[in-house]
Amino acid sequence: MTLKDKVRRIYRFFKYGLRAREIKRTAPMISRERLVGDLQSLGICEGDVVLLHSSLKSIGYVDGGPNTVLEAITEVIKPSGSLVIPTYHMVNYNMYDTCLDKKYVFDPRTADTFLGLIPSAFLKFPRIERSIHPTHSVSALGKDAKYITEAHHLASSTFGTDSPWDRLMKLDGKVLGLGVTMGPVTFYHILEDLMLDEFPIPARMTETYGLSCRDWNGNLIKVPVNPHDPEIAKKRIDRNTYLADYFWNEFSHRGLLRVGKVGEATSWWSSARKFYNHLLALMNEGITIYSTPDDLKRRPIPEVDSPDFQV
Ligand SMILES: CC(C)(COP(=O)(O)OP(=O)(O)OC[C@H]1O[C@@H](n2cnc3c(N)ncnc32)[C@H](O)[C@@H]1OP(=O)(O)O)[C@@H](O)C(=O)NCCC(=O)NCCS
Repeated sequence: MTLKDKVRRIYRFFKYGLRAREIKRTAPMISRERLVGDLQSLGICEGDVVLLHSSLKSIGYVDGGPNTVLEAITEVIKPSGSLVIPTYHMVNYNMYDTCLDKKYVFDPRTADTFLGLIPSAFLKFPRIERSIHPTHSVSALGKDAKYITEAHHLASSTFGTDSPWDRLMKLDGKVLGLGVTMGPVTFYHILEDLMLDEFPIPARMTETYGLSCRDWNGNLIKVPVNPHDPEIAKKRIDRNTYLADYFWNEFSHRGLLRVGKVGEATSWWSSARKFYNHLLALMNEGITIYSTPDDLKRRPIPEVDSPDFQV
């Protein structure tokens, strides 16, 4: 761990400690039992393979913090399910900057993640499997954890064939958003990586960078990465709420989202396979996660009740 990482960890310890006390005073207390019941009512079941994107504070004050959320999900899906969580690590939270840093080495045994308290807590769980990937490492626990993570560094590309997203789809997993919109959802990128030149937007840069990673035995390996083009990334759904709203309306209207509350958090899930098929259908109708407001105007859709997201 670098000095910068240590300072960041100490800062977060104090910041979240104080804020957690404030949230405890102001938000409803949410127990593990409540989370288990809410997840089951939402349609998460024993045996599910669940890819989670989350916001802890949108749930309320979670008694026991992020570990309670993780324990509740694993309780619902065990013994035969798997929980999959993105645990990315990048320079400046940016794929391209990571590619330009010649000294960068990703080590799955020690690298922290910037994706929130729940992914950070997951990294400390015993028996997780973590994929070897310099920017988009994914962690998993459960029956299919090894299958989902083991080939990421050998995959056709970051999100392509044999990546965790591809394997999630092969297992017909569920993409689950706890308190997050349809903005911060990595699963969209599988379409770009499987469609390659047929994808209408040049989202990925053409240059390939060989980034250094440690494997689980500490050996250095190189993993090829084509970074997202930072200029095109600015137009993407995770940076533009009009796109997240449109996709929410579209997927809801088509019956592809199951929506409910987990604690206080508006939450949703979609079958990975159906999600992918619909992304493909939308692409064929000229709509992608990079579409402009004018593109969307050309394909109007009915509005559904607007979701009540807190973050
Ligand atoms: C960015 C994002 C993580 C922010 O959500 P968040 O709830 O603010 O952040 P975290 O989940 O890390 O939780 C930290 C918050 O929980 C609070 N918290 C601490 N203990 C808590 C507890 N026991 N109960 C509830 N909240 C608590 C923290 O104080 C902090 O709130 P603050 O920032 O107001 O101080 C979320 O919006 C998001 O995008 N998640 C998806 C990330 C992802 O998977 N991205 C990949 C695809 S691009």
